[in-house]
Amino acid sequence: MFVGFLVLSLKLYAPVKYVAKFPAIVQPGLVGAERVFEFLDAPAEIRSRPDALPFPGLNDAIRFDGVEFAYREGDPVLRDIDLEVPKGSVVALVGPSGAGKTTLVDLVGRFYEARRGTISIDGVDLRDISITDLRRSLGIVSQETVLFHDTVLANIAYGQGEVDRARVEAAARAANAHAFIEALPDGYETVVGERGTELSGGQRQRIAIARALLRDPPILIFDEATSALDTESERLVQNAIEQLLQGRTVFVIAHRLSTIQRADRIVVMEAGRIVEQGRHEELLARGGTYRRLHDLQFRDASISPS
Ligand SMILES: Nc1ncnc2c1ncn2[C@@H]1O[C@H](COP(=O)(O)OP(=O)(O)OP(=O)(O)O)[C@@H](O)[C@H]1O
Ligand SMILES: [Mg+2]
Repeated sequence: MFVGFLVLSLKLYAPVKYVAKFPAIVQPGLVGAERVFEFLDAPAEIRSRPDALPFPGLNDAIRFDGVEFAYREGDPVLRDIDLEVPKGSVVALVGPSGAGKTTLVDLVGRFYEARRGTISIDGVDLRDISITDLRRSLGIVSQETVLFHDTVLANIAYGQGEVDRARVEAAARAANAHAFIEALPDGYETVVGERGTELSGGQRQRIAIARALLRDPPILIFDEATSALDTESERLVQNAIEQLLQGRTVFVIAHRLSTIQRADRIVVMEAGRIVEQGRHEELLARGGTYRRLHDLQFRDASISPS
């Protein structure tokens, strides 16, 4: 019996070991399957209609009329959005994280399609405009500047094809970036980005601003960086932002008090809705959501208004 027991236990050893290893075999498969389904579930890329119009240029205003949007059916992220942004004005979007600010500006570039309502430029529905054209007239400065492993020159001229060196320098000057670029080991030929020369947050932001200035788009979407900069860097970036906003129609997701105060209109968002609109002083006086956000975010700013 003992010998029988021994033989059986030895025989059982292999299958038990196999069962114990089972999760390790299945797990990568599950992860793989998840990725495949994610891909299959992704919405089809938004395309222009065959009869899409060329971008007419912005002469009047960008309007949102009763816009509703959801990433997932039945879970709206934007509701009842009515908003008019006249040509040449700066609209600052503020609100708590997850309020829908980024989503709202993504709709302007038609990275997503509104589920209900319309977005129009000079009365022409965005859906009737060629996407390539639309995006060409749109400058986007995102929250985190991505630099490519390439020269400063190429990073500023990114996406522009052949660009005149003098124009790149002019853009860099306007963005307060020329001086620090000249001081780099190889000036404009210095390789930055991954494994390249490290640039500070403020320097990267100014490169992004130079990039946008060079493209010179009529409509600008600016997702302001949240990272705190030191005072000197802050002043330089501030100045560059001022250049960037000049004469453009701007949606800025604003975190800096100075940008917010400079805006022609502040749009306060909360849980997918616009809850307040107006100028800084008006909204402060109203004592609503803006007042609360302002007091939370800029407790210390009142001591040294920028
Ligand atoms: N690609 C996505 N798929 C599904 N849900 C998303 C996606 N992007 C954002 N959301 C959800 O939509 C809501 C609004 O997100 P959004 O990014 O517009 O907020 P936000 O106001 O820009 O926030 P933050 O200030 O943190 O950038 C959030 O609840 C978020 O979880
Ligand atoms: Mg956002």
